[in-house]
Amino acid sequence: MLAARGGWRALRRCASLPRAARLRVAEALRAREPAEAVTVQGWVRSVRSQKEVLFLHINDGSSLEHLQVVADPSLENRDLTFGSAVEVQGKLVKSPHKMQNMELQAETIRVVGPCDIWSFPLKMKERHPLEYVRQFPHLRCRSNTLGSLLRIRSEATAAIHSFFQDNGYMHIHTPIITSNDCEGAGELFQIEASSEARESAEKTHFFNVPAFLTVSGQLHLEVMAGAFTHVFTFGPTFRAENSQSRRHLAEFYMVEAELSFTESLQDIMQVMEDLFKTVTSSVLSKCPRDVELFHKYVAPARKDRLEQILKSKFMTVSYSEAVEILKRASQTFTFKPEWGCDLQTEHEKYLVKHCGEVPVFVINYPYDLKPFYMRDNEDGPQHTVAAVDLLVPGIGELCGGSLREERLPFLESRLQRLGLTDAYQWYLDLRKFGSVPHGGFGMGFERYLQYILGVDNIKDVIPFPRFPHSCLL
Ligand code: 4AD
Ligand code: MG
Repeated sequence: MLAARGGWRALRRCASLPRAARLRVAEALRAREPAEAVTVQGWVRSVRSQKEVLFLHINDGSSLEHLQVVADPSLENRDLTFGSAVEVQGKLVKSPHKMQNMELQAETIRVVGPCDIWSFPLKMKERHPLEYVRQFPHLRCRSNTLGSLLRIRSEATAAIHSFFQDNGYMHIHTPIITSNDCEGAGELFQIEASSEARESAEKTHFFNVPAFLTVSGQLHLEVMAGAFTHVFTFGPTFRAENSQSRRHLAEFYMVEAELSFTESLQDIMQVMEDLFKTVTSSVLSKCPRDVELFHKYVAPARKDRLEQILKSKFMTVSYSEAVEILKRASQTFTFKPEWGCDLQTEHEKYLVKHCGEVPVFVINYPYDLKPFYMRDNEDGPQHTVAAVDLLVPGIGELCGGSLREERLPFLESRLQRLGLTDAYQWYLDLRKFGSVPHGGFGMGFERYLQYILGVDNIKDVIPFPRFPHSCLL
């Protein structure tokens, strides 16, 4: 987080007291020593004018806490309102108030950009519900909740990269535009040049073949796993599916890893569990105040549950056991549980509850339910594949993964039955030239954030929601 990383620089700056040191709000709040000639820039979060003194709170996005500015009332002016952008120069001094370490005694206050408080949709000292601020995707990052969310999102992104780099994985930028439908579900957005560009090119397809926004970087990651053994990617993925749901987005971020020389699904599950626990511990320790805001106002009791989960082992059930559990349930489901049918969200939620509201791995799904690349378990003629889904309370599926079919004859016959042999010649090549047992998984980054913070709607964990009539599509 900015605050934690910038802290060292701030302390160095304060120690040598350079002239007019420019400090971020987080740096100023954490400074150990008073400092002369400090400049802080940010947006006004509150203005309180008293007879003898003018109090401002300013924030620049570097922390949830605001910096208190204390000024002579003569520095007040018409434009100095809630929401305005300001530059304050003055002395950083120890604050007499218990709630804050430092405050800024202003010598000058310059309004850089005024703000019309009557038409500005955020109001001073009001707690705005997530549904309300979702209507203003271009302004909601200035609210406390979205500020915290975006700092957590940034920290979690860094923690995911560190987890993989620290464990010897190489980062790969997999393509966004691709001709393959990795999951075979047909939920694709097709890419073409605009009509004007098409007329001049006189081509049916811009790339000569149909091209799509990627649904997963997995197949490209498998290529790289044939040279680097441990690889990961973390980028945007796209699915043309129901975007009205609380847990589906048309554009979302997926973390994907691929491991070569791996024969056991347990190895893949161990990486999923380690990733979840390491990243969550890092976020909890690096953004405690930001996380606390969610655990206090959005999802009370989530903190204790998370801490328990970090200490306990995730559970595992097979798909067949899961169906038996569902069939024995006293609850009536909209979709009757049957072996061979996909687990619905209502089933996933029941299973997680049945297992004590902890994350649960469901393994070994029916062969016909899963994509062509999953490894046949050979427990009957095309009966189950070595697939795993990680289900978490309140959300359902958080990660999906599998061992990949590394045996050429198995893959060839499956692709042939699906009529995909020509399209996947390059993929078959990977099985002809030095094929190794391997596997991997993908974790939905937004669902991860939803789960650890207890956010009900997935649109509240992305920087820019596509709210109906959004000015920022
Ligand atoms: O289970 P999925 O479809 O798995 C794959 O795409 C594999 N190729 C990944 C791999 O093995 N490398 O997607 C992985 C995860 C899901 O478990 C879910 O968390 C998330 O991506 N996800 C979505 N998140 C938000 N909105 C959507 N529309 C999502 N679809 C999938
Ligand atoms: Mg899945």
